[in-house]
Parts: sequence; structure tokens; C-alpha cells
Amino acid sequence: MSTPLLEVDGLTVAYGDAEPVVRDISFAVEAGKMTAIVGESGSGKTTSAMAALDLLGPSGNVLDGSIRFKGQELSNLANAEWRKLRGRKIGLVPQDPNNSLNPLKTIGASVEDGLEIHGVGDGAKRRRQAIALLERVGIDDPECRYHQYPHELSGGMKQRVLIAAAVALEPEVLIADEPTSALDVTVQKTILDLLDEMRAELGLGIIFITHDLAVAGDRADDVVIMERGRVVEHGPVSQVLTNPTQDYSRRLLANVPSLAVADAYRRPPVAPRPSFPSMGWPCATATSPPWRAFPSTSPGAPRTPSWVAPAPARPPPAARSSCSTGPRPGASPWTAPS
Ligand SMILES: Nc1ncnc2c1ncn2[C@@H]1O[C@H](COP(=O)(O)OP(=O)(O)OP(=O)(O)O)[C@@H](O)[C@H]1O
Ligand SMILES: [Mg+2]
Repeated sequence: MSTPLLEVDGLTVAYGDAEPVVRDISFAVEAGKMTAIVGESGSGKTTSAMAALDLLGPSGNVLDGSIRFKGQELSNLANAEWRKLRGRKIGLVPQDPNNSLNPLKTIGASVEDGLEIHGVGDGAKRRRQAIALLERVGIDDPECRYHQYPHELSGGMKQRVLIAAAVALEPEVLIADEPTSALDVTVQKTILDLLDEMRAELGLGIIFITHDLAVAGDRADDVVIMERGRVVEHGPVSQVLTNPTQDYSRRLLANVPSLAVADAYRRPPVAPRPSFPSMGWPCATATSPPWRAFPSTSPGAPRTPSWVAPAPARPPPAARSSCSTGPRPGASPWTAPS
């Protein structure tokens, strides 16, 4: 086993003077791997993630435990050092898309924030990158959306903007807190495939927090199951989800209608692209992203069989009317905003 990129060991966290809400939690992720953290609401998933990034807020206290990035202890890191690490080396997709974007900043400015803070490129380059990233996460008409404000986007679109912002700096580790919870299944697949590509091509390690055991089962390498602030079971997905040893894990699994639904997310084999441009996806390549394994609407493409009912056209809400929501040339019609 190679050295984990991120390792959380024996973490105990309390808010204020109350009893700890997370006790003796451990999890880790290696390069190119995904570790899923699953558990009921309130079991301490977000607290663990935020503690791992020193983002607990004033009332949160880490009482015990170690957080290591590539073997380097982070628990006593100075704020200035944290600022160099966060975003650049360890990215975060926060849980709540509705409160995580600055309402006074355009979508483009939010995606460019990290690039600017870390001094990447000039204004024009950052703009190109932001638009290409918006395209990659399946945002329609990204040039137009770039100028919009969060209140003009749906929850699912905001979630994708947060994902674009988190991967903009190509971090080595991504902590994603329910990053696809507001997305419909097809857009979710787009995002999961993008994350798979980044794992395969950049060695990105992902901590993926989710309620969705089917997604964990299909995409993750390891799973950590939490209940009431503790880890009840952890290990390789193939072992934990097929042969759980704890009652709580069995109950969680029993509540998944069928792990067979994971087939709906089955990812295509990841074929490394010749160049996954470091910090720059030119718009030209972004207009026909290879991860969209859905039928094309290009003239030569086979037509949708007549027995497949077309999806009803959704008129854009007035607040979003200034951007085109229809399919763009070369873009998949399946990635309409959720
Ligand atoms: N800022 C806070 N102050 C006090 N208690 C908090 C705070 N944030 C979270 N908690 C408490 O900590 C516990 C764990 O919450 P946390 O948000 O980590 O759970 P979670 O597993 O992420 O839940 P969910 O699936 O609903 O997102 C809960 O009991 C919650 O009420
Ligand atoms: Mg949470």
C-alpha cells in the first residue's frame, strides 16, 4: 500500500463545551483513489471533512487526532500555511450549494477566485479556464453563465459551479461533501465521470461524502461507514458492501433499494486523453468533451428511436432567461440544467 495523500487518524471534535460529535474517526485516501464516507444525517461526516481542512469555524474544536497530508502533520499548521494548502493541494466542494457561493460575485469570478489567489495566469487566461471548467461540469452556455450571479442559477447548477471552482487548481486531494446530491442522474454521471478522469489522469485522491450507497459502491475504492460520530465499519468497498460485519452497515445497505442501481452509474472505461492540459482546457476542446457518452445530436448521429418519448422542453425561468438553455452545437442535450 502506498502512502496515503490525506490521512485522518483518531480525530475527535466537539462544538463549544458540548460532548464530542465526532470521536476517534480515521480515514485516508491514496492518489487516484476514492474513499467514500457514508452515514445517516448528523453522523459527523461534514464535521470530519471540515476538521480535515481546519475549517470548523469558531465553535468547533479538534480535541484529539492527527491530520496528515503526504505524511506532513497539519494539525498545528499556521494559518498562512493552511492558506497555501487549501484549494491548491486540498480542494473542497462544500455541502450546501445555496450558501457556499458569494452572492455578490459572478459565477465566473467565483470559479476564478482560487486561480487568482494562487496567482495562476492572467485575467484572460483565468477567464478562459473558468469558462472551460463550467463547460466541463455540464453548465450550458458557459460564456453567458460566467456573467451571472448565484441567484440566477438552480441549486444543481450552483453545485456544479462549486465543483468547477474546487477542481480549478487541480488539487491533489478533493474533499467533496455530497457534491451531486442536487443533480439528476444524468448530470450526476457527468460529474462522476469527470472526477474519475481526474483520478486516472492526475492522480486525484477523493474523499466523497454521500448518502448514496449505490454511488459509493460503484465509484469508491474504500468506504467508511459512520454512525453517531463514530466509524462503525471501514474497508474496501467490495468487502464492506458485499459482506458487512456490523448491524448498522447491514441496515444502511438494506435501505438501498438495490445496489444494482449502481449499474445506472456504471462508468465507461477511463481512456486517458493525450493531454489533460495542466491548468488549461482550451474552449475548443471543451465544446466536445469526450466524457459525454450520450447520443450526439449532430446530423450524422443516429436519431432517437420514435418510441423514446422526448423529454419535455423546460422553459428557462425568467431570472435565467438571458442565457440560452438549449443544446449548443456539439453539446449533449442530456446535460440540461437540473
Ligand atoms: N456549528 C455547529 N455547532 C454545533 N453543533 C454542530 C455544528 N455543526 C454541526 N453540529 C452538530 O454536529 C453533529 C454532526 O453534524 P454534521 O453536519 O457533521 O453531520 P453530517 O453527517 O454531515 O450530516 P448531514 O448528512 O445531514 O450533512 C450534529 O449533531 C450537528 O447538529
Ligand atoms: Mg453533512
